[in-house]
Amino acid sequence: MLAMDFRGPRRVRAVQKPMPEILHPEDAIVKVLRTCICGSDLHLYNGNVPDTRVGMTFGHEFIGEIVEIGAEVTEVKVGDRVMVPFNIACGRCICCKQGMYGNCYESNSESTAGGGFLGYSHTGGGHNGGQAEYARVPYANFGPTVIPVGMDLDDAVLLTDITPTGYQAAEMAGIQPGDTVVVFGAGPVGIMAARCCWLFGAGRVIILDQYDYRLEFAKNFAKCEAYNFRTDMDDPVMFLKKITDWIGPDACIDAVGAEAEGNVMQTITGRKLLLQGGSATALHWAINAVRKGGVISIVGVYGPTDNLIPIGNVLNKGLTIRANQASVKRHLPRMIDHVMNGILKPSLLITHRIPLEEVAEGYHIFSAKLDNCIKTVLIPPTANR
Ligand SMILES: NC(=O)c1ccc[n+]([C@@H]2O[C@H](COP(=O)([O-])OP(=O)(O)OC[C@H]3O[C@@H](n4cnc5c(N)ncnc54)[C@H](O)[C@@H]3O)[C@@H](O)[C@H]2O)c1
Ligand SMILES: [Zn+2]
Ligand SMILES: [Zn+2]
Repeated sequence: MLAMDFRGPRRVRAVQKPMPEILHPEDAIVKVLRTCICGSDLHLYNGNVPDTRVGMTFGHEFIGEIVEIGAEVTEVKVGDRVMVPFNIACGRCICCKQGMYGNCYESNSESTAGGGFLGYSHTGGGHNGGQAEYARVPYANFGPTVIPVGMDLDDAVLLTDITPTGYQAAEMAGIQPGDTVVVFGAGPVGIMAARCCWLFGAGRVIILDQYDYRLEFAKNFAKCEAYNFRTDMDDPVMFLKKITDWIGPDACIDAVGAEAEGNVMQTITGRKLLLQGGSATALHWAINAVRKGGVISIVGVYGPTDNLIPIGNVLNKGLTIRANQASVKRHLPRMIDHVMNGILKPSLLITHRIPLEEVAEGYHIFSAKLDNCIKTVLIPPTANR
């Protein structure tokens, strides 16, 4: 089968690989119909995630048709078209029982932090992902969710990660009616987070990025205020204070993560010299801009190693920090309702549809933010495209 292959930082290609096999009675094999490239894939692509092995297939956002099931799979059957949440969750460990499906103990038992993730390095459990014609899906009785009749497949694939992630970012921001929320990062996750803030009763939503085309898109899609941190202001923290009566926003969402730009010291120590686990520029701005007693919601991904974070300001301002990988499965029923009722239309984010054969081009465009790219979908040759 054709599959994406990691050859080293910023080198990926599509190659022939053996078909995935059922390795456990609860596995299923899925024929992939749509799969996306995510900002999280860029951390792997850029070589910033430990133990990302040459030869791995990335891809944690995909939908497909079940073509084979293990002996103990009872909840889905061959022929079902399913959304596969990016986190692999057993559904029965102590984290899964609390709905923390991104922190499953079973699917990545050697990790003390995250659970298992499809296509996300050996720190994520070493599971090959869905940027391929076929993928093996563990715990098929729990994760894969049947795509409702009538749902657009482009909407469905965006429910496997960025839509629930944006929603959870807004949820973790603890928004009270009328609150002002600032979202850092106008990538697919930040744009969706800004959109979802309104669902929780926000009174004002502001988004920051460095790309005007993304800010313009966010303004239209999420009906929020949008500012370029490079050209609209000198100091993002002072700017955000100034436009919020010098008090600061009630909540800030970090939808950027460890590859943030905008601060020379963070960039040099975190991204060039690797003296810290990436640059925490957006998180810095969020902590310093938010009002006293405010909430910081982090969905932007950071590695497990040390980062320069202004923890003194967190303490002295009395901030609440909430952070996690999104628990996709927990949000799916509500996300499905919102899509079927027309409240959310995630597929509007898709700007690029690229054949899996051209995966290298797809990564290049999404990574370098070329051609006004917001979200890229890869379509395998076997997907009747
Ligand atoms: N927690 C989760 O479950 C989860 C799920 C999906 C993605 N993520 C993470 O969310 C983050 C965003 O993902 P994406 O797909 O939108 O990525 P993306 O790369 O498309 O977007 C990131 C955006 O942040 C902007 N940016 C860079 N530095 C900034 C700064 N200092 N302030 C404001 N904006 C800045 C970039 O210009 C870019 O537009 C990534 O870190 C990704 O790994 C987390
Ligand atoms: Zn993702
Ligand atoms: Zn579990």
